[in-house]
Amino acid sequence: MDSTSARGLAALVGDLGTERPPRYAALAGRIRRLVAEGRVPLGTRLPAERELAQALAVSRATVTAAYTRLREDGWATARQGAGTFAVLPRGPHHGAWVPGPADDGSIDLAHAAPAAPASVPAALATALEELPRFLGAHGYHPAGLPDLRARVADRYTARGLPTTPEQVLVTGGALHGVSTAFGLLLRRGTRLLVEQPSYPNALQAARASGARVLPVALDPDDPAAWLDATERALAAARPAAAYLMPDFQNPTGALLDVAGRERLAAALRRAGVPAVVDETLAELGLDTAAPPPLAAFGNGAPSVGTLSVGVLSVGTLSKVAWGGLRVGWVRAEADVVRRLTAVAVQTSLSGPVVEQLAACALLDGLDASLAELRAGLRERRAVLTAELRRRLPGWLVPEPPGGLVLWCGLPTPRSRAVVAAAERLGLRLAAGPLFGTGHALDDRLRLPYTQPPDVLRRAVGLLVRADAEATGAAVPDGPAGDPRAVSVV
Ligand SMILES: Cc1ncc(COP(=O)(O)O)c(C=O)c1O
Repeated sequence: MDSTSARGLAALVGDLGTERPPRYAALAGRIRRLVAEGRVPLGTRLPAERELAQALAVSRATVTAAYTRLREDGWATARQGAGTFAVLPRGPHHGAWVPGPADDGSIDLAHAAPAAPASVPAALATALEELPRFLGAHGYHPAGLPDLRARVADRYTARGLPTTPEQVLVTGGALHGVSTAFGLLLRRGTRLLVEQPSYPNALQAARASGARVLPVALDPDDPAAWLDATERALAAARPAAAYLMPDFQNPTGALLDVAGRERLAAALRRAGVPAVVDETLAELGLDTAAPPPLAAFGNGAPSVGTLSVGVLSVGTLSKVAWGGLRVGWVRAEADVVRRLTAVAVQTSLSGPVVEQLAACALLDGLDASLAELRAGLRERRAVLTAELRRRLPGWLVPEPPGGLVLWCGLPTPRSRAVVAAAERLGLRLAAGPLFGTGHALDDRLRLPYTQPPDVLRRAVGLLVRADAEATGAAVPDGPAGDPRAVSVV
């Protein structure tokens, strides 16, 4: 395991003078937060007490008491003769994040997914015309309809990653692709390196496979720090796999540039760690296009057993067309795709033919429909950003270069309280802690800009009230926005 230097940790801990006494509790609190946020990676050996005391200019007794507190609360563990190590306490683990109904009259800002464009019913009509030529056979295509595999392969090739149809497994959406990849790579007790924050349902899928999540803090304003920490964690913790989103990461919107991709690909290869790269949002660049897929960088793949795995790229039509189609895919080396297919058929023998035919039609017209989708999202992003900055000036509202969501900073940890108050007002949200291991991120809130502008404005009206309720402030005057007065998609 990696260790952290006393000076390094002292710099992260910062000035304790601003905290309420006792000093040891303040120090324990700061370290706990650093571990929860993934800034001090799990398994890191904490500095010797005397050295940290010196670096922080506090007494050794203060550090001893702080480490004792961390151990008692489950944030550190002592190993005889080896030192004190950062760990996460058991729980809280969220259950699977199950969407509420889309039509209960609430405004839904919990899910980041656009309504279906007109191209979707048109593609389904085309699919029905095509269907008869498939009806004479049994209809099972375990790796996906050949026509669809070919189109997905062509799209990767066009994005700078030469791909053949045999390198594509069609799945029931991206999450099915991710969990199939986890099924191949993870076992009970193995570790999965993830960004923190990350996509909740993928974290849940990893936990369901018995793996332990190893979070590395991602701050979109400081991508180099994430790369540094990831390189260290890959080398030190030897995870079984990594789950990463270099393209408009959900929820931060962070985009890894070409140099970052080169570094990341090299670090994964050096450590021999295969990566599941979730490219769900890769084609939703609003200010800039994403560089080629991570799998296009570096060559030579790490092995799992006798299998050379490398990067497994996961994609979907859910965000560029419609989530209701349930069509996604995994792109990998052809022998890996064969192994993945064997995992996928354990739970589903094949995807539906009609939806896969519709997916072919949608991919044929995707460039045109994407241009329209991006223009609409730019407008919605501008509306939501402006409304939030105007009506909640204390919040931090950064504008991401792409993707579907704003990752807002709240002035104090109150995301869960705001979400609970909003739910009572008819606004459904996803609280910050859902996007991590559950111990941090209560000062964050993810807000999608997938709804029409008038719905977003009303949602912000409700959010202002929810925030006031959560903080005990006076509820501001002005139109609150009745969610039931709008049509909700
Ligand atoms: C990063 C990411 N991965 C996967 C998914 C799930 O996609 P699908 O609907 O294709 O399963 C989502 C949907 O929100 C997502 O944001």
